[in-house]
Amino acid sequence: MENQKVQIFDTTLRDGEQVPGCKLNKEQKLIIAQHLDELGVDVIEAGFPVSSPGDFESVQSIAKIVKNATVCALTRAVKNDIEIAAKALKYAKNPRIHTGIGTSDSHMKYKFNASKEEIIERAVNAVTYAKTFVDDVEFYAEDAGRTDNDFLAEVCSEVIKAGATVLNIPDTTGYCLPEEYGAKMKYLSENVVGIEKAILSCHCHNDLGLATANSIAGVINGARQVECTINGIGERAGNTSLEEVVMILRQHPTLGLDTHINSRLLNEISHLVSDSMGMIVQPNKAIVGANAFAHSSGIHQDGVIKNRETYEIINPADVGVNESSIILTARSGRAALAYRAKKIGYELTKLQLDVVYREFLKVADRKKEVIDDDVHFIIETSKIGILA
Ligand code: KIV
Ligand code: ZN
Repeated sequence: MENQKVQIFDTTLRDGEQVPGCKLNKEQKLIIAQHLDELGVDVIEAGFPVSSPGDFESVQSIAKIVKNATVCALTRAVKNDIEIAAKALKYAKNPRIHTGIGTSDSHMKYKFNASKEEIIERAVNAVTYAKTFVDDVEFYAEDAGRTDNDFLAEVCSEVIKAGATVLNIPDTTGYCLPEEYGAKMKYLSENVVGIEKAILSCHCHNDLGLATANSIAGVINGARQVECTINGIGERAGNTSLEEVVMILRQHPTLGLDTHINSRLLNEISHLVSDSMGMIVQPNKAIVGANAFAHSSGIHQDGVIKNRETYEIINPADVGVNESSIILTARSGRAALAYRAKKIGYELTKLQLDVVYREFLKVADRKKEVIDDDVHFIIETSKIGILA
């Protein structure tokens, strides 16, 4: 049976760009949007046009150049926001308006000072109005993670009646546990009236480090869109990482789910976003961190040199990394040293390796990492010619 497709909704340029101090200019946004389109994302959330003239212009320019993906713009459940978003999306081949309102008790009370009935009315009015501009309208129930499931199902049923095509269920505060978020999706897929006319979308924040786990729980339980960012960037602890979701689905074919993403472009776009935002990727970040395919302990290095599958579940080439790296440290063994020596042109006999290894350990105890120049120097000064 063919895998079912999960839509990838990239919000690097909207929710991702809300990282404090990491502003992108219009040119940088256009380049990233082009790369996202080539990567194969289904939806690019280009911005929040009413927020500033600069954001309006960026969304408008992205809408003009994107060839394949749907281009989406965020709004509040406010008429003026929706009109401005529709204007910014005018030239998009496939435009989507993403509108919504908070549905949790705390959002209703403190942000809107509104009753449940008033929240439903505003939600329905926003979707109805957005539908007068575009066919594709996504509704978000902000803070759905902390919203009562019955009320959430009621809001979702009403906005579907008004024409919503996608229901976004954000865990805005990154509070849910995977079981809880998965159960929420299951409940909605079984209790929202008219759910067959819309798809459920995961939008998870990473405040407890669970954004990816929650998104995966969401798709296992019926969601068919994941909202995510490159490198998991975003406000506070960030959003779900696009690269993690894509590779989890790919590495677990038994889930029967996949995406349209060309994973070989992941490493390149990770660097592009990191460089453009001036935001480094933590070295141990899954899939795209500098150490994601680097091995430094002797036991692991020996295994990987014999067969990389011993300690690698992903072929680095599948995510655009040339090859795994063997890092020489004081924890490395002879196999790693011989491997690196060979890479720089030395074929050492067993006896030669014994001598060079003793010298290598002295250097390794002094340094964090022994680089190729050090290996070259150790071999040339080890007088192994006499032993050979
Ligand atoms: O986290 C959130 O709730 C959001 C919505 C505005 C979609 O980003
Ligand atoms: Zn968000």
